[in-house]
Amino acid sequence: MASSSHLVALFLLLLACVVRMQDEAVVDGEEDDVMEEDDKVIVITTKNFDEVLATHPYLLVEFYLQSCDYCKQLASEYTEAARYLHEEGSMARLGKVDGAYQRALSKEFGIPIFPTLIFFKDGDRKKPRHYKGDHNAAGILAWLARRTGPIAYELDTAASAQALLNKSDTVVLAFFNEPEGEQKRFYLEVADDFDVILFGVSSKPEVFLEFGVTEDSVIVFKKDEGRFVFNKQIEKDELYDFIKMFELPLVLHFSREVAPKLFGDLVRVHNLLFASNVSSSFPELYAEFRAAATAFRGKVIFVFVNIEDPSNEHMLDFFGLTKEALPEIRLIHMENKTQKFRPVTDELSAANIQNFCQDYLDGKLKAHYPSEEIPEDWDKDPVKVLVGKNFDNVVFTEDKAVFVMIYAPWCTHCKNLAPVWEKLGEEFKDDEGIIIAKMDATRNEVGTVQVNGYPSLYYFPAGVDKKAVKHEGSMDLEVLAKFPEEWWERGGAGRGQGAGGGRR
Ligand SMILES: *[C@@H]1O[C@H](CO)[C@@H](O)[C@H](O)[C@H]1NC(C)=O
Ligand SMILES: *[C@@H]1O[C@H](CO)[C@@H](O)[C@H](O)[C@H]1NC(C)=O
Ligand SMILES: *[C@@H]1O[C@H](CO)[C@@H](O)[C@H](O)[C@H]1NC(C)=O
Repeated sequence: MASSSHLVALFLLLLACVVRMQDEAVVDGEEDDVMEEDDKVIVITTKNFDEVLATHPYLLVEFYLQSCDYCKQLASEYTEAARYLHEEGSMARLGKVDGAYQRALSKEFGIPIFPTLIFFKDGDRKKPRHYKGDHNAAGILAWLARRTGPIAYELDTAASAQALLNKSDTVVLAFFNEPEGEQKRFYLEVADDFDVILFGVSSKPEVFLEFGVTEDSVIVFKKDEGRFVFNKQIEKDELYDFIKMFELPLVLHFSREVAPKLFGDLVRVHNLLFASNVSSSFPELYAEFRAAATAFRGKVIFVFVNIEDPSNEHMLDFFGLTKEALPEIRLIHMENKTQKFRPVTDELSAANIQNFCQDYLDGKLKAHYPSEEIPEDWDKDPVKVLVGKNFDNVVFTEDKAVFVMIYAPWCTHCKNLAPVWEKLGEEFKDDEGIIIAKMDATRNEVGTVQVNGYPSLYYFPAGVDKKAVKHEGSMDLEVLAKFPEEWWERGGAGRGQGAGGGRR
């Protein structure tokens, strides 16, 4: 349920925390099984992990890489949370695993990206629970408080119920006339699946009266929005879906810290508002956006991307937007492939935003592919410049093979590859059969290939029914230069005319 590989890939793009395991110096640790601590964070190794688990019934473990900048940022928050837990004398402990060294552990828990946080309860290695709270100290502590506390608080008085409501923006209270019935058991099972929301339960007339409740019901209380009542027989799935709708705020404010929530959600359709929170039109625009959101709860997640937050810059890149052109709205659907949609109108009223989302849900919209204008000198240099508007024309040229690098200007691996790609262009510049090309994916998109990471290299052999071949291997010049030849020799579709076959 958590995430498809595409979501993970997108998440990677956004956080720029690109992990290519093959690039890391990967060695399994030589440590003995002593339990060391680094500022109250337990240093976990393949060898001591069993003992750590046996010692600590509530254990949150961060899998990180030393080379990942975002991991470094999280480390200080993580340490702060660890120190706090220590001072409080909490049963919960934090540990960390260096993913590059403790490879067996990363493999066992199928760590897709770094950092990844996993929680273990009662030393049970077979039931890892992925942490999806905020990536900061407060988020970690709130999440652990929920996991180490009761699944639902028993509320005996109106005051205790009110106090629970005070504790969080989203609180669920259940009212059961029968204190130990099946309905309550179902409720607790559903509650256990949620990580951040607080749950309460009561069978006391005083509490029923306080909330004007007479029959069995489950009520979601949202601080800014009021209450939402579920008053049917509880079917677990139905109740789960109902509460799930309210887990996120009506409008989620995007940041690195909350991104994991968004990408772990069941709803894969996100409607994003890109705007500056300090522009004069912002309050009105935000109110319209928020008003539109109410009708789409559980169907479309509304997200505000504040461009004044520097860590959101990659989001602009990813959507091919520039600060000057804002505010803008984009809808994104992340299923097996990522598709983006834009409203036809510039007037971002609640009614227009609602129509836009409804049209999307009704299947009336066509995906939007941003493109730069075709540069006049796009084919002047050995490496041809492709944009959205000329991509298909060039790569589907029948009598030529085309090898294209799809990159993002900010990506380090792309920067390293750029000079190699230039040399590759030089090497093939007199070869009539092959075009070496590149496309900036932050400004241009195409439906032809689904880009899941940067850089992506695609080879389009010459011929009528061209299909893109992804190059996955080494990015050394020598390997790249041989790729077209090898593809051809392996019986793949042809090189272009004039290539003459055995160039080497
Ligand atoms: C809820 O919080 C408010 C403000 O923090 C406080 O004045 C009030 O007494 C609290 N109510 C309960 C029942 O704890
Ligand atoms: C606008 O956003 C920035 C960046 O998140 C924040 O520091 C600032 O306090 C916000 N300003 C207002 C007026 O909300
Ligand atoms: C996504 O892929 C799965 C499995 O390949 C398929 O069952 C599903 O229908 C696809 N969804 C969409 C929206 O194409």
